[in-house]
Amino acid sequence: MKILIAGGAGFLGSHLCDFFVLRGHSVTALDNFLTGKKENVKHLLKDKNFKLKKADITKNFDINERFDAVLHFASPASPVHYSKHCIETLLAGSSGTFNLLNLAKKNKAVFLFASTSEVYGDPLISPQKESYWGNVNPIGKRSMYDEAKRFSEALIMSFHNLYGLDTKIVRIFNTYGPRMNINDGRAVPEFIIRSLKNKNVTVFGKGTQTRSFCFVDDLTEGIYKLLLSKEHLPVNIGNPFEITLNELAKTVIRLTGSKSKIVYKPLPEDDPKRRKPDIGKAARILKWKPEVKLEDGLKKTIKYFQLSEVSK
Ligand SMILES: NC(=O)c1ccc[n+]([C@@H]2O[C@H](COP(=O)([O-])OP(=O)(O)OC[C@H]3O[C@@H](n4cnc5c(N)ncnc54)[C@H](O)[C@@H]3O)[C@@H](O)[C@H]2O)c1
Repeated sequence: MKILIAGGAGFLGSHLCDFFVLRGHSVTALDNFLTGKKENVKHLLKDKNFKLKKADITKNFDINERFDAVLHFASPASPVHYSKHCIETLLAGSSGTFNLLNLAKKNKAVFLFASTSEVYGDPLISPQKESYWGNVNPIGKRSMYDEAKRFSEALIMSFHNLYGLDTKIVRIFNTYGPRMNINDGRAVPEFIIRSLKNKNVTVFGKGTQTRSFCFVDDLTEGIYKLLLSKEHLPVNIGNPFEITLNELAKTVIRLTGSKSKIVYKPLPEDDPKRRKPDIGKAARILKWKPEVKLEDGLKKTIKYFQLSEVSK
């Protein structure tokens, strides 16, 4: 396949570039480096099956290649980044999605979109199934991200229904692993970096809110299976193993052998209290389930941060 990966220099995009290049596909990564970086794909630059292009998907971008698949992973993804880049986030999930859908339509290519568990907002039911419509504050602190993703999903379904475009929507639950951005404030990199530096680890609220963390290799496998499937309705991909943020902080402190202490700060507005995917649909139609245990994935991620600049 010839694959375009928008957001290819980001955390998830770069792992997808690795995944497809390793399997002999030809990949063009498109990125404006808003939150991603060239270093994430530096090791691929010498490969004849890989190209990196600087472009903004929300603007007119020039691309004269033909593609079999267009993957949209170009959007700020962490609360720190999407609050700071709120307009860019809304545009990535509106005009950016529109431009990439038109590119896929022109190429008669499969289109796959990185949606999110955030479309469920602060969910009133747990675990969340794809049929749940969500509980989103449309003008809240997270709305630029949640609503951009919800708008994208509606736009994608319109292209599917109107033009018969082969579209896929993956609702990704918290994913972690090497190459996460150190400054994006997400719990896993934040806890690891502070633990490696023996600094206080900050937990919001009482730390009893839960998250479910999926290792990046499990996610890429699930995305690959979805891309090859016939499904065009949204599919949850995530790890249903649920952990409180207190437990996560304690686990990271233990695995890093750190002297850090846990300190508590007030819970941010609209912070979801529970987040756990129902992955019954992925198991049924994709024959997919996550394989990597949290501690094993955390050890690999800790090793990455130990080797990178942050721990120096
Ligand atoms: N990591 C997760 O746990 C998670 C969960 C749910 C959904 N997602 C989605 O997956 C995608 C990738 O997330 P990530 O964690 O890798 O984030 P990331 O910030 O590491 O990667 C996003 C990439 O997109 C690029 N980008 C942003 N706006 C762009 C634009 N207008 N044009 C071109 N490139 C642009 C950034 O420079 C970056 O390289 C996002 O769409 C995100 O919403 C991620």
